[in-house]
Amino acid sequence: MELLYDPADRAVMCNPHAVFARLRAEDPVHWSPKLSSWVVTRHEDAARVLAEDVFSSDRLSPFYRRAQDADRSTLAEVMRYIGLWLVFRDPPEHTRLRRLLNTAVNPGVVASLRPSVVAIVDFLLDEIEPDQEFDFVADFAVQLPAMVIMDMMGVPRDMLRTIKQWSDDLVNFVGSPRTVEAKYERARTGVLAMAEFFGRLVAERRDAPRGDILTMLIQARDEQGTLSDDEVVASAMLLLFAGHETTTNLLGNALMALHANPDQQERLRREPAIVDTAVEEFLRFDGPVLSVSRAVAKSHDLGGRRLEEGSRIFVMIAAANRDPDVFAEPDRLDLGRMPNRHVTFGKGIHFCLGAPLARLEAGTALREILRRHRTIEVTRPIADLDWIDAMVMRGVHALPVRFGR
Ligand code: HEM
Repeated sequence: MELLYDPADRAVMCNPHAVFARLRAEDPVHWSPKLSSWVVTRHEDAARVLAEDVFSSDRLSPFYRRAQDADRSTLAEVMRYIGLWLVFRDPPEHTRLRRLLNTAVNPGVVASLRPSVVAIVDFLLDEIEPDQEFDFVADFAVQLPAMVIMDMMGVPRDMLRTIKQWSDDLVNFVGSPRTVEAKYERARTGVLAMAEFFGRLVAERRDAPRGDILTMLIQARDEQGTLSDDEVVASAMLLLFAGHETTTNLLGNALMALHANPDQQERLRREPAIVDTAVEEFLRFDGPVLSVSRAVAKSHDLGGRRLEEGSRIFVMIAAANRDPDVFAEPDRLDLGRMPNRHVTFGKGIHFCLGAPLARLEAGTALREILRRHRTIEVTRPIADLDWIDAMVMRGVHALPVRFGR
């Protein structure tokens, strides 16, 4: 049977692991005609592609150059800001931007947030009625990371719905979705609205500094004198966006894994002290990132295949994280797994800046959910859920759940 990876196939979306296992074994550097891209599935190759500089993070410029004229004019305004995100830049621009963002998001800042993360988790869980079905994604998993990052940035909490809408619009560009109508137009709408909002907020903070991330970014920008206003606005947009989409799906996927593995659920309830290794295992077992892409910057060979300069390559994070060469019994959820060399936060110079924050949020939330509730039940079969149809994200749009006391 021909080995094809069709990410738009609903069954594959729900469970891609059978096809990933075949790809790893039979065609680890796979040419996908559907994606017009290379697809890499082994851990070793994934780590190389993520970390080596023959693979460029600037995958937007080649895409933009190839776009149809009509799309290109819509995309010009999207590129003005998104093209400045450090995640899409190579050194030396990446180094400069990362230094700036690091002043605002670092382990010290994140440690100081613990009490407010605990308070937000309590606030949200207090609203959830035991024995009543609710949408875990909308009522909890979207709200927690969005509130945390909005508080950090000094964005008023009543903006949450608007922010979520902008961010959903933005996913239509950065998430590599396949089946969305007018996706570039929607991305443009979201980007322009966000840019206008942050432009105004930056001006306000310059007049009246506060203790929030935005003020830190402006001060770092003004002191170093090396960043444009657009770069400050773009970096704020990136933090807001990156700060919640992924963590939302980590929480949703973790809940599904707990539902499907009652023994591990009980183990974590009994031994809350293992929550940190548990979070690493949720990141590995069914993390929120399906793939990360790169552009081939210099023609060369990988896994016996010739990769030509300019071609696109998807690193299938979800496949690398189940590579049996690296993980014993990779398809088993083991909340005490150690070591756990998953690549869900990436690798190398682009390693996720927000990893300490995501870990803090997920650990706090999962420990408190299990402390409060004796049972976690996903009330619809996992195969019937509406999975996000995008290359970057892995998660569901809604997750009907019932907690029992
Ligand atoms: C479970 C949650 C998260 C996951 C799985 C995740 C995953 C990732 C991955 C895979 C990358 C590298 C992308 C690449 O190499 O192209 C990345 C980069 C990044 N993440 Fe996260 N992320 C998460 C949460 C967050 C949070 C909460 C924030 C912000 C507060 C954040 C901010 C960033 C930033 C700024 C970058 C760019 C770093 C760079 O290019 O140097 N992330 N993330």
